[in-house]
Amino acid sequence: MLVTKRIYPEAVEFLRDHADVDYADSDDGLPPAELLSRARGTQAVVCQLTDKFSAQVIEQLEGVRVLANVAGGFDNIEIPTATRKGIFVTNTPDVLTETTADFAFALLMAAARRVVEAHAFVHSGEWRRWTIDLLVGQDIHGKTLGIFGMGRIGQAVARRARGFSMRILYHDLQPVSAMVERELGLEFVPKEKLLAESDFVSIHVPLLPETMRLIGAAELRQMKPTAILVNTARGPVVDEAAVAEALRAGIIASAGLDVFEREPEVHPLLLELKNVVLAPHIASASVDTRRRMSMMAVSNAVAILEGRRPPNLVNTELWPDQAVGPVP
Ligand code: GLV
Repeated sequence: MLVTKRIYPEAVEFLRDHADVDYADSDDGLPPAELLSRARGTQAVVCQLTDKFSAQVIEQLEGVRVLANVAGGFDNIEIPTATRKGIFVTNTPDVLTETTADFAFALLMAAARRVVEAHAFVHSGEWRRWTIDLLVGQDIHGKTLGIFGMGRIGQAVARRARGFSMRILYHDLQPVSAMVERELGLEFVPKEKLLAESDFVSIHVPLLPETMRLIGAAELRQMKPTAILVNTARGPVVDEAAVAEALRAGIIASAGLDVFEREPEVHPLLLELKNVVLAPHIASASVDTRRRMSMMAVSNAVAILEGRRPPNLVNTELWPDQAVGPVP
């Protein structure tokens, strides 16, 4: 068993109770050649979103039966190649849903009410007096929120928005059930309507070829000049240079961004602008959730070693049904 990067200690202890562990106890991550050489001959790899398992890398894996990603997303792993090679891929959904939604809302509120600017202002010593329009921002309550991607995290964001009496529009490949729409007060709309009518646009789609650059220059131009964009999904879902330019030119008002196209690089213009709140990919980063993600990933890996179907299998076609499926 290889663990490519530092995880919470209790997860490593759990692993050590079940297997021999080669633990790369560092935050650096393994360079591709070392990743391959250390993965050789091991059955399970506990990996993170910074480990790139391209088709080429996966082709060279020998003997590996499971890639257990410590993340909800799995765009760092070329799933079709893994599936073709019979390698199980697992992720850590559910445990991060509410935490990620909390952070999307934190970014939304911080951008709307200029929290980071306000903090910097107080720190700077420039605060002399109360004035009628000092750091005025946008209201959140009663406004329209447009959500791209009404999966688990999108729904958790919608639940929060209900508490703020927001009108909620959403767009996805398919509408959710009428029951969920009713319960959360959701309105399924075409992409164009969502962009044109939303005061806030929050993105909760996975990164797929179809969602790459979902928001580019054309989409930004369809948004209100007072609109605020929030991205806690994956960087390449938005055209980062186009967002930076739209923020500079006042095509949209503000943004809250947790993810970037080439992390840890950030478009230099974004670093100069005041009307954007930036975070280093931390939407799921609460102590409890990161612990749970670590434990969940190692439990998935151990399941495969013990011949059990992992609870969070991504490529389910490799092991279709827990109750009746044969052990592959
Ligand atoms: C983080 O981005 C995750 O996918 O868990």
